[in-house]
Amino acid sequence: MRVIEGLEEAAGLCDRWRAAGLGVGLVPTMGALHEGHASLLRRARAECDRVAASIFVNPTQFGPGEDLAAYPRTRDADVALCEGAGVDLAFFARAEEVYPEGFQTWVTVEHIARPLCGASRPVHFRGVATVVTQLLAIVRPHRAYFGAKDYQQSRVVARLARDLHLGVEIRVCDAVREPDGLAMSSRNRHLSLPERAVAPRIYRALVAARDLVLTGEARVGRVLERLHEVLEPGPELRIDYAEVRDAEDLRELPGGRIARGAGVLIAVAAFVGNTRLIDNVVIPPDPRA
Ligand code: PAJ
Repeated sequence: MRVIEGLEEAAGLCDRWRAAGLGVGLVPTMGALHEGHASLLRRARAECDRVAASIFVNPTQFGPGEDLAAYPRTRDADVALCEGAGVDLAFFARAEEVYPEGFQTWVTVEHIARPLCGASRPVHFRGVATVVTQLLAIVRPHRAYFGAKDYQQSRVVARLARDLHLGVEIRVCDAVREPDGLAMSSRNRHLSLPERAVAPRIYRALVAARDLVLTGEARVGRVLERLHEVLEPGPELRIDYAEVRDAEDLRELPGGRIARGAGVLIAVAAFVGNTRLIDNVVIPPDPRA
């Protein structure tokens, strides 16, 4: 495995791979790697001739007062995890190189970036879309891999790749969970023991809401009630949002009714202590509907 610091050198290596006719896969990350990231890397390994993993804590996707400074940085362990997953290139970027003096070009995705995390974190998806576009321009992979744990992000990235004709296939991989259902996240390491015990409520609530829809409940209001019942918001778990939306375009469901001919997204963001956690379930369209 090659470990590279500079963008130009990483781009050069990827150029040579492509020139040799090799299929290149990219897995963008912010490091503090865990099994969720590893699942993306392994999928890329299985589907591509060469796998590049980028590790960059992207400052522009954090708003003022968010956890940029506290974001975990575990470089040596990240390199080891990449090596273990069969990555060919792990590349680290520096903020000065990604956003040099005079930088002024942003990628803004509109409708699907507005609700949910876009509403709570106004600059977030502009930062994500911009850095992902840059990474795709540097590596120019045939395929890029994203996790369904960050469902809205995966939709935003798929949209920008299409709209900008980037010629990359966006692959979305299932969320990897702890045995009690908590979605793996770099931020889980900030949870205290009591907070860690509360956090699985998020997925339990999502599963309860999904079950309600699968047994025929079509009223969004009822599904939200079920979500709140299991989330039991209080000082130890504060809901940022809990929503039911169209899984394709993330719009609100017309008339507050779930029509099972379309996919349904149930998404939650909640603060457990000071740590903001997000998770979701997607119910695919019912083929009989
Ligand atoms: P990061 O949070 O490090 O996540 C990198 C990738 O791993 C994302 O595509 C994310 O959805 C995926 N991932 C995280 N936890 C996962 C889990 N439990 N199961 C499956 N996949 C999981 O997301 C980002 O970084 C950044 O926004 C980035 C895309 C790198 C742009 O800066």
